[in-house]
Amino acid sequence: MILAKMKEIAEAYLECTIKNAVITVPAYFNDSQRQATKNAGTVAGLNIMRLMDEPTAAAVAYGFDKITVDTNKKNLLVFDLGGGTCDVSLLSVGKGNFMVIATAGDTHLGGEDFNDRLIDHCVRKFHAKYKKDITGDASCMGRLRTACEQAKRNLSFSPQAAIKVDHLYGDTNFDTRISRVQFENLNKDLFMRCTNLIEKCLGDAKIDKTQVDAVLLVGGSTRIPKIQQLLQDTFGGKELCKGIHPDEAVAHGAAILAANLNSQGNKEVQNLVLVDVTPVSLGVGINKGYESMDIVVPRNTPIPVKKGGCFTTRYDNQTSVYFPIYEGESAETKYNNLLGEFTLEGIDPAPKGVAKIDAYFDIDANGILTVSAQGGSNGVKNEIVISKRNRDLTAEEIQTMVEAAARYKAEDEELKTRISLEDFVEKVKTMAMYPGLSDPEKKSMNEAADYVIAWLETNHVATIDEINKQKRELATTIRRLIKLMRGVIPYDEVLILSLEVD
Ligand SMILES: Nc1ncnc2c1ncn2[C@@H]1O[C@H](COP(=O)(O)OP(=O)(O)OP(=O)(O)O)[C@@H](O)[C@H]1O
Ligand SMILES: [Mg+2]
Repeated sequence: MILAKMKEIAEAYLECTIKNAVITVPAYFNDSQRQATKNAGTVAGLNIMRLMDEPTAAAVAYGFDKITVDTNKKNLLVFDLGGGTCDVSLLSVGKGNFMVIATAGDTHLGGEDFNDRLIDHCVRKFHAKYKKDITGDASCMGRLRTACEQAKRNLSFSPQAAIKVDHLYGDTNFDTRISRVQFENLNKDLFMRCTNLIEKCLGDAKIDKTQVDAVLLVGGSTRIPKIQQLLQDTFGGKELCKGIHPDEAVAHGAAILAANLNSQGNKEVQNLVLVDVTPVSLGVGINKGYESMDIVVPRNTPIPVKKGGCFTTRYDNQTSVYFPIYEGESAETKYNNLLGEFTLEGIDPAPKGVAKIDAYFDIDANGILTVSAQGGSNGVKNEIVISKRNRDLTAEEIQTMVEAAARYKAEDEELKTRISLEDFVEKVKTMAMYPGLSDPEKKSMNEAADYVIAWLETNHVATIDEINKQKRELATTIRRLIKLMRGVIPYDEVLILSLEVD
């Protein structure tokens, strides 16, 4: 639904139909999450040209100009702290070439968590003062959340901020001030978790802090001064790159890639080459008493990639071999994530360990995985049947979802029409209050408006045509009345009202 909405927004702005799209995903997304994102794009009526890792997109946006003047390879650390997730990636950047060396991340760490801490703080303060627990009241908590979000943003620019909610609970107002230092203390451990991810990422990339040439800030939460300070401290006072609006850097990079794939844009854009890596290791489960993970594609392997592993039989005259496919970093598969499974059958009988079976893991540019196996003296083959459970949707499933999306869109249109009629009625009611009108005139206008209000209340389900009919009828009535009222109601108001229906 979000993607369909984005498509609509872009189409309205560009005044043309949008078919192709590049969608960004967190670097930490696994195979099924990527596939689900692609499916969602299809359901939204888009052709997904590429999925792009968000840090890569940000680096394209940030580093693009610099690398055209400097041909030496550089190590870039992308630190993306958004609303819900924290992603750290190390990229090697050459001329027009971006390669993700390693990624580390936390899928549940971001701005919302900082808000939660602030909210808890306020709830405790309110309780201390009024002996009332407001956590059970959703509306109350919602308004407090909005105030805390605003206060958090203000604290990025000033050392103090107010948190003020009138009538927070019943008639009780809430009004407090919070300092930046207090905010930092409330979130100390969370901020530390963010910066710890840097060590992990650099460790995986086998790169020392001193070898990092630039640190890029991405994501709205990197506006928090303490985060910037921690980053700067980590890198021995290095200047941070924050030239691009942190909320837009990712979209900016995706737009460059989209232009590149559509053969648009300037020469630099056209020369762009992107190399992504697998975020987690992929492999086959092998029975050794317990099921152990035999890694075929190690974590952080550049994609697209095709890698093979060699397998064999465990028993004499074994004619079939079972291949469970996992993703994860544990040596024991029970801690990893089963992606799918298939069995290679019809292998020529032979003593154990004789049959040679080659399995190939093929990952395309979107990070989507296909596994195949071939072996035995007769060379039987199984073009893999990875269980599609979490992966590709069937054509029928996609169709059902496309229809559902169309239905949501229709419901949305109905709601918009309904709201526009409600607005229209409001305008009529306001007009009926003009001082120069006689009482019978006011009465007629109000009656016409009230009739529509009653209609709206009794017709919760109505077609767009039916709603528009109400609007036209009301407009006709009002116009008839307005003829008699020229000079009393400002001409502009009458004109606006008429235009809305015409
Ligand atoms: N001035 C500011 N100070 C602190 N935080 C801010 C500021 N401006 C925005 N934020 C926070 O940035 C977050 C949104 O950032 P962004 O748009 O990068 O997130 P996202 O990409 O939607 O989320 P994610 O990457 O986690 O999926 C919100 O939590 C918001 O509160
Ligand atoms: Mg983000």
